[in-house]
Amino acid sequence: MIIILLGPPGAGKGTQAQRIETKQGLVQLSTGDMLRAAVAAGTEVGKKAKAFMEAGKLVTDEIVIGIIADRIDEDDCKNGFLLDGFPRTVAQAEALDNMLARKDLKLDVVIEMKVDDAALVDRITGRYTCANCNQGYHDVNLKPKVDGVCDNCGSTNFKRRADDNRETVSSRLEAYHAQTAPLLPYYKAKGILKVVDGMADIDDVTAQINEVLGSLS
Ligand code: AP5
Ligand code: MG
Ligand code: ZN
Repeated sequence: MIIILLGPPGAGKGTQAQRIETKQGLVQLSTGDMLRAAVAAGTEVGKKAKAFMEAGKLVTDEIVIGIIADRIDEDDCKNGFLLDGFPRTVAQAEALDNMLARKDLKLDVVIEMKVDDAALVDRITGRYTCANCNQGYHDVNLKPKVDGVCDNCGSTNFKRRADDNRETVSSRLEAYHAQTAPLLPYYKAKGILKVVDGMADIDDVTAQINEVLGSLS
């Protein structure tokens, strides 16, 4: 199965992708995570991407298309994958269509996670993740069961993203509305767009997504 999770920054793409990955055995491909790893490692891609990411602007299509083209060639993508944060422009969506056509694969569904802009700032500024296993948390909405200890791996080290501040969030939202929202009519026209209410609580959103995925098989 090939799934796209589409939604603005803070919509819950990463949170739900981790859950679908576990339940469906599909590998999560997050271009944001891949780019942050490249920045941390100081690779050529990371050097090119860093300033765009810090400003809350999209990295060039050429860079992200190259990253995804290489990644979906790997063995663990053979049984399908879940795209989180890609595509984000019509050019990226068209490039993905071409990559899949060459491999004789097709997109099963695009799930739009609809969330009001006003809710996104709080979600993003309250977000943190485990520095060891990348499990996501939130200061108010999703705390670890034991304060300061990761539920998943027991680590006591957590981190916050450099772009999770109020100023950068507004640029990221602008980029979403200007460059990514046009993908909604693009996929609607193909008849594969499904919408879930991302304002609901986290477990409820998971249930809505499971219902969509269940209706496909
Ligand atoms: P990326 O890492 O993709 O960031 P993003 O799209 O801005 O999305 P986020 O990761 O911020 O949000 P999310 O939807 O994953 O939310 P989460 O589940 O964490 O991209 C970062 C940057 O990389 C971009 O700005 C760009 O520069 C570059 N980039 C990446 N891909 C690119 C591409 N294809 N092309 C060009 N450039 C690219 O949830 C957020 C918080 O809310 C968490 O704390 C969570 O616990 C909480 N939460 C989640 N769901 C709920 C809920 N239902 N109710 C209450 N709280 C919730
Ligand atoms: Mg994310
Ligand atoms: Zn952990």
